[in-house]
Amino acid sequence: MLNLLCKQDYVREIEKTRDSRMKWWREARFGMFVHYGLYSQSGRNEWLMVHENIPTKEYEKLADTFNPKAGAPREWAALAKKAGMKYMVLTTRHHEGFSLWDSKVNPYNSVNYGPKRDIVREFVDACREFDLKIGFYSSLMDWHHPDGWKCAFDSAARTRFNKYIKDLNTELLSNYGKIDILWYDVSAPMESFEGWNSLEMNQHMRALQPDIIINNRSQLPEDFSTPEEHITASDIDWEACMTFNGISWGYVDSAQAVNYAYSSQQIIKMINTCSNGGGNLLLNIGPTPDGSVPEDAVEPLTAVGKWLSENKKAVYGKLVRNKNRHNPPFGGNGVCGSSSDGKSVYLWNWIWPADGCMGIGGYMKAPKAVRFLKDGTPIEFEHKDHRILLKNMPSKPLDTHAGITVIELEFDTAPEYVFASYYPQLHGGKTF
Ligand code: GLC
Repeated sequence: MLNLLCKQDYVREIEKTRDSRMKWWREARFGMFVHYGLYSQSGRNEWLMVHENIPTKEYEKLADTFNPKAGAPREWAALAKKAGMKYMVLTTRHHEGFSLWDSKVNPYNSVNYGPKRDIVREFVDACREFDLKIGFYSSLMDWHHPDGWKCAFDSAARTRFNKYIKDLNTELLSNYGKIDILWYDVSAPMESFEGWNSLEMNQHMRALQPDIIINNRSQLPEDFSTPEEHITASDIDWEACMTFNGISWGYVDSAQAVNYAYSSQQIIKMINTCSNGGGNLLLNIGPTPDGSVPEDAVEPLTAVGKWLSENKKAVYGKLVRNKNRHNPPFGGNGVCGSSSDGKSVYLWNWIWPADGCMGIGGYMKAPKAVRFLKDGTPIEFEHKDHRILLKNMPSKPLDTHAGITVIELEFDTAPEYVFASYYPQLHGGKTF
């Protein structure tokens, strides 16, 4: 029996272990979200049951035709690895209520219906094969369970439903070895952690998996926040989750979606916002009805992976968290982004200077060395008052994967940066 803590003590308790539990996650930066379920067959978004008001009996027919091809999860994991991602999160059961595993609690699952296979098991095996950390998305809201909405106003239904959700998560965290992330979603219809019994449920989950990281969607703050479809830095640990096309998490026709899909440049820009703001990017793919990776994601993610393999230091590991987006601790020159590990500043050049010269204001100390991060080639530079001037660089970006060349400014000690004021003439070329 668990000795249950009250909210205050629980929050204090999990804070004690947070730094060690979160270490890998804080350095990982980039993960893959996978939305796969019965809805994938429709190509009309994972909310179709609600959006089209489909009666349960009619929707259930999708369970019979659900037929992921052999090796689908392996294909997702292989791409995630290739893209430079460090972890994956799979929708083990989305709001539609269909479990992708051999559940004893929920007979509406992929072993009783459709493929008659445990897709969660295949996913876990694939993550381990490619050395990716493993995350389970688990919906709280359930459109299939008879108590899924009754629980809002019927206390007996709520007791049953709370138990159901807890038992499902218990299966997930007991039967697949070490799991790294529990990713809750949509805590409706109850509106408080008391309504969901989250305090009890999460303590139970942590007892099963002491190193687990839990997101903030069970009405408790837990370990990290989850901005959705926007990338906004905050002071607490955060992970932005993004669709691949701004339209849908579940599969939509790739041939049409490709026009809305993110390019490698846009993805690298997202990664920059995360690297600069101390957060992570969880980028979604919605596999096709048979579980294949959607075509529109392959090329951009492959290019991003190649780019990342040459620019690791600017992205992974412990980076300085810039808390103020409008006054970056380490600035660029208006056409580049930045990130910093506290010793070096990395300039991510979106637009390359055709004359091969670059000036960056606000640096109070001279760097020790300036180089291309990709291959270490030194760059000629001069430090004049608070400006760094880079000279005689090539007239075209060096990067061949996305055209985004990263320059490393290496300092002896922590770089001192002061945001250049709106009126440069005030400084008259002198120090601030
Ligand atoms: C939303 C949606 C859901 C999606 C999730 C991802 O809450 O309900 O479809 O899975 O966001 O963050």
